Amino acid sequence: MGRPKSQHPRARTTSVRLTDSEHEDMTRAAALAGFNTVSDYLRHLHERSQRDQAAAVPVVRRDTAAQFPANLVRPFYRTRNGTIFQGDSRGFLFGAAAEKSVDLIMTSPPFGLVRKKDYGNEDAHRYCDWFRPFAEGFRRVLKDSGSLVIDIGGAWKPGTPTRSLYHFELLIMLCEEYGFHLAQEHYWWNPSKLPTPAEWVNVRRVRVKDAVNTVWWLSPTPWPKANNRRVLAPYSAAMLDLLANGYTAKTRPSGHVISEKFGHDNGGAVPPNLLAIANTESSGLYQNFCREEEIAIHPARFPAQLPEYFIRMLTDPGDVVVDPFGGSCVTGMVAEALGRRWACVELEEEYLRGAMARFTPCPTALPKIRSEPYALHAPCTLPADGVPLVVDGGKTRPPVGDAAAVVTSGKQKRPGRTKQESLVA
Ligand SMILES: C[S@@+](CC[C@H](N)C(=O)[O-])C[C@H]1O[C@@H](n2cnc3c(N)ncnc32)[C@H](O)[C@@H]1O
Repeated sequence: MGRPKSQHPRARTTSVRLTDSEHEDMTRAAALAGFNTVSDYLRHLHERSQRDQAAAVPVVRRDTAAQFPANLVRPFYRTRNGTIFQGDSRGFLFGAAAEKSVDLIMTSPPFGLVRKKDYGNEDAHRYCDWFRPFAEGFRRVLKDSGSLVIDIGGAWKPGTPTRSLYHFELLIMLCEEYGFHLAQEHYWWNPSKLPTPAEWVNVRRVRVKDAVNTVWWLSPTPWPKANNRRVLAPYSAAMLDLLANGYTAKTRPSGHVISEKFGHDNGGAVPPNLLAIANTESSGLYQNFCREEEIAIHPARFPAQLPEYFIRMLTDPGDVVVDPFGGSCVTGMVAEALGRRWACVELEEEYLRGAMARFTPCPTALPKIRSEPYALHAPCTLPADGVPLVVDGGKTRPPVGDAAAVVTSGKQKRPGRTKQESLVA
């Protein structure tokens, strides 16, 4: 019996012009992927791309939108460029804000910390579920050219010196379920971070200081608008010398060819994705205001340079910046000073009463940042011969005498230690 005729015969043809090497590459790739012909291979790639796109397109479900009406938020304070809302930001994302109206969401959500802070962190394992409606809302309000920047710290699992995966799970969920693209991960290094948890770091000595927050820069398309020239760093002394005395093009041992263009002055160096910002502010307008007014100081503020970096790199004056977990409205203050339109939404009214310190008077410019670089030693610059390993991995606490020996044997004698260092060593 002959084969039944296909209802969808492949009767149409199209020709694709290829160079010899493209043709060779495609034929090889098709064979490697198990296809007899390049056309089967191309059909397969097309179907896969359709599938990926379908999976990546998030659906803003009607029932989610209905759950979070606009009246969950109320305007709390207005400035020339922005508005602070008090309430649940899901009401803003699904009700008050228009679809595709936002250029940048710059935020630091409550972290899934094991030791809860007093603003109500979710347990790490429930974190992604809690985040889902926000993710949907972010997709709803962001423009295609926009960006979502999430500063999120890691967390230790209770009882063992091991780390939660919750912030990585969040990243994967945002990309796989909500179609975000990871434009680039950044790391915020806080040189003044205390070495916690002391039990693993100082007492049992089996972990090192956790001093970076991950900052996920995501985007609804692979092409968010951006320009790294907005955030150039001062040139190093070596580069300044090279600019003054010229550079001879050469090939590095790594194989990278460094052309003569390397010697051009571009006004500054492209910064790395490691942002060194100490978060030490313990006095200043905001804290003084809160103390005077007996308002709780927000326990998890980020430094103004963090939103400043992303607002400058990813938005133009007049663009819209939103912080849905506004806290003490650092993002709003920076956006106001940089002439962006903005909205901050915060659940707790008390934090907003404190935030008023940032808007009276309303900022019109940001303070100049001192350009002293932080020093980070290359690893293994101190000798440690003879220091024994903690062979049980820190399962048991060292006897007090042993712990002291471990603490003192690798320690460098330094005059003039800071207050923070003496607290924790
Ligand atoms: C890590 S803090 C943000 C701090 C802020 N970046 C700053 O520098 O002050 C997270 C904030 O999100 C707020 N929050 C939690 N759930 C919220 C919700 N559904 N809507 C609005 N704010 C919420 C918390 O009250 C907390 O102040």
